[in-house]
Amino acid sequence: MALLFNYDGKKGEQEIFKISNKIKKRKFNINESYLIKGDNFKVLSSMMGIYKNKIDLIYIDPPYNTNRIFKSSLNRNNTISSEEDGEVAYSDNLTQEEYFEFIRERLFLLRELLSEEGSIYLHIDYKIGHYIKIIMDEIFGIENFKNDISRIKSNPKNFGRKAYGNQKDMILFYAKNSNKNIFNNITIPLTNEEIVERFNKIDKDGRRYTTVPVHAPGETKDGETGGLWKGMYPPKGRHWRYSPDKLTELDEKGLIEWSKTGNPRIKNFADEHKGKMVQDIWEYKDPTYPVYPTEKDEDLLKFIIRQSSNKDSIVLDCFSGSGTTLKAASELGRRFIGIDNSDIAIEATKKKLEDANYNFLDIENGEEIKILTNTQLKMI
Ligand SMILES: C[S@@+](CC[C@H](N)C(=O)[O-])C[C@H]1O[C@@H](n2cnc3c(N)ncnc32)[C@H](O)[C@@H]1O
Repeated sequence: MALLFNYDGKKGEQEIFKISNKIKKRKFNINESYLIKGDNFKVLSSMMGIYKNKIDLIYIDPPYNTNRIFKSSLNRNNTISSEEDGEVAYSDNLTQEEYFEFIRERLFLLRELLSEEGSIYLHIDYKIGHYIKIIMDEIFGIENFKNDISRIKSNPKNFGRKAYGNQKDMILFYAKNSNKNIFNNITIPLTNEEIVERFNKIDKDGRRYTTVPVHAPGETKDGETGGLWKGMYPPKGRHWRYSPDKLTELDEKGLIEWSKTGNPRIKNFADEHKGKMVQDIWEYKDPTYPVYPTEKDEDLLKFIIRQSSNKDSIVLDCFSGSGTTLKAASELGRRFIGIDNSDIAIEATKKKLEDANYNFLDIENGEEIKILTNTQLKMI
């Protein structure tokens, strides 16, 4: 049972669903992708008929209760935040209580949309993130909490206040069901420094490699890996890593290195390394020249999508901003649904999605258009 976090204006779950249920359900084609302009509470409510329990992956990067107005200047190459000129992209100026409730109401709807194998990643900063963690525990269950990922977002900065520089934000990762969520065990390549450190030898063809013993801990009493190979038994308490036949085959292929004292070791090559398991500190720096305020790195989104969704999955981002999640999902062949209520966000997204197929809906103005890729347009 999660601890509850109380504040003025906190609604009961039933009350939230009562409001949501009054919103008319819309028709969607589940096989297609959508970019929707509108308030996400309304849009998510309207999706319940078709998408309840159907979304495998949700990534959201909502406003962070910064009390700032984010401005954007799309005619320039970069974006201005909280400055005099530029058009307002979005305002982040709710009171703390209003903000908590704003996020909480949407999280209840998102939980309903998640499939049984689904996951949600919520991107937030270090100031407000711990409160949001408690809200997420309430909604998704503390037992479904997976990780609090620290994302290194920038290079170290100089600053004047009496505190440490803030280089990270947090991504809270929950599953709908902790033991069922899609998780593809994606590994990442070693860095150049790691390659040089771990593979410190170079062979005649210029390939970096290291060597490991031909035996490993644990004795095999009767099996092949405890048997005789080249007149030797494995040392006491150990067994051959491979059967004697396989070791001979490796030796004949030149994949075993013999020391001057006759000690054999197996060669492992850097270019055959399968990559390393990912831990909970990630480095994906924000774009240097963002097209939209608070725009996130596309590779970050690609990694999350590859890890927590499959080709046939639907990916949802209901604070989609400039459409980073949608572009990443489209490039990875997933269906996507993006929602944002800012004209500037929608404009930036349409530019990013130039090569994607999707339907555009403007909930307030009733506009609906099918957007085809340039290749498809040429075929008409
Ligand atoms: C932090 S930005 C997202 C940036 C995005 N991750 C990117 O890479 O461009 C948050 C977005 O939430 C949108 N937003 C805020 N309140 C909303 C609401 N009620 N409904 C839909 N979108 C909303 C804002 O317009 C803004 O674009």
